[in-house]
Amino acid sequence: RHPFKVTVIGSGNWGTTIAKVVAENTKLHPHLFKETVEMWVFDEKIPKSKDSEEYEMLTDIINTRHQNVKYLPDIDLPHNLHANPDLLDSIKDADILVFNVPHQFLAKIVENLKGHVRPHVRAISCLKGFEVGRKGVQLLSSYITDELGIQCGALSGANLAPEVAREHWSETTVAYQLPKDFRGEGYDVDHRILKILFHRPYFHVNVIDDVAGISIAGALKNVVALACGFVEGLGWGNNAAAAIQRVGLGEIIKFGRTFFPECKVETYYQESAGVADLITTCSGGRNVKVAKHMAKTGKDAFESEKELLNGQSAQGVITCKEVHEWLDTCEMTQEFPLFEAVYQIVYNNVPMKNLPEMIEELDSFV
Ligand code: NAD
Ligand code: 13P
Repeated sequence: RHPFKVTVIGSGNWGTTIAKVVAENTKLHPHLFKETVEMWVFDEKIPKSKDSEEYEMLTDIINTRHQNVKYLPDIDLPHNLHANPDLLDSIKDADILVFNVPHQFLAKIVENLKGHVRPHVRAISCLKGFEVGRKGVQLLSSYITDELGIQCGALSGANLAPEVAREHWSETTVAYQLPKDFRGEGYDVDHRILKILFHRPYFHVNVIDDVAGISIAGALKNVVALACGFVEGLGWGNNAAAAIQRVGLGEIIKFGRTFFPECKVETYYQESAGVADLITTCSGGRNVKVAKHMAKTGKDAFESEKELLNGQSAQGVITCKEVHEWLDTCEMTQEFPLFEAVYQIVYNNVPMKNLPEMIEELDSFV
């Protein structure tokens, strides 16, 4: 079946970065992959200059100047990366789909793909989030599998996109389980193929099979990062941020154990997608920036996101709501006090200075 054709669905900050990584590798391995990588772009008009009424389409800019000027400025993209504004055309004849959009847009995209994806296609989700709906709380990879009938793994790690795009060294974790109808090496995607597709000298990949573990860690660290941003914005310093990360890691592991018993606890400690991602996101991610801005200005999460991120998304804002709704359904909000505190601060105006008492582990001595 070689060479596999690869399409990246999404072209934001991380979507474009991963598309760059993948296109660099398909060019190097023509026997394994078709050289041209399609990248689906949710197209938009980009003004020619600051106050100009003339504009160009983002897709045209990417295909002619080889830069995503809006979501990944100043980074040169490989010329074998082709931006495509037509979702169905971008996945035509694809063998591997790499999903990489903010998770609030996934359901609509998957809906549009239904009936157009052949069953042999394999997928990797680079999204960080959950789907909460009629099936309860679901991993996004499972959601893709259920909706499209294709095997789907995940890629997650300590990966701030601007650093990876600048080719500063980092690690990541890819998790993938071979499908029941695996057709054998050479005919189907396996761990070796995935490593070759994503591994770069500046982007070191470890491939494992714990899809649930890396996905849970990736989704929930965004909620913890909001809490870190609150205490940073309040000026409480490093001790407070470390305390938030300690409590956060505990709740991430407990959430996994409670709702996804198949995940392995060592994934949180040993993989880039685990504690390493928690540390990097809490140090300098967009969720921290948005939460800090909320603390400093008194503005809400949505206004802060709009002011700071130029169309990008801080996924913790949505994830804390989804996690709250799920925990509320299970009558378990009290068992995850940090996640619940973040939700109450973001959505119900509870003062962020109350965080310590909201997460305090009370015992009989005080
Ligand atoms: P982003 O935050 O840059 O979001 C912007 C993207 O959303 C743009 O491509 C824009 O066109 C698209 N968009 C806007 N409205 C849309 C709509 N209605 N329908 C479809 N698309 C629309 O996105 P990102 O940084 O690429 O994040 C994608 C996923 O990767 C997220 O789940 C995120 O948590 C995860 N992630 C991000 C980073 C990072 O550093 N940026 C790192 C690791 C993982
Ligand atoms: P932010 O979305 O908070 O920037 O985090 C990006 C990320 O997932 C780093 O691994």
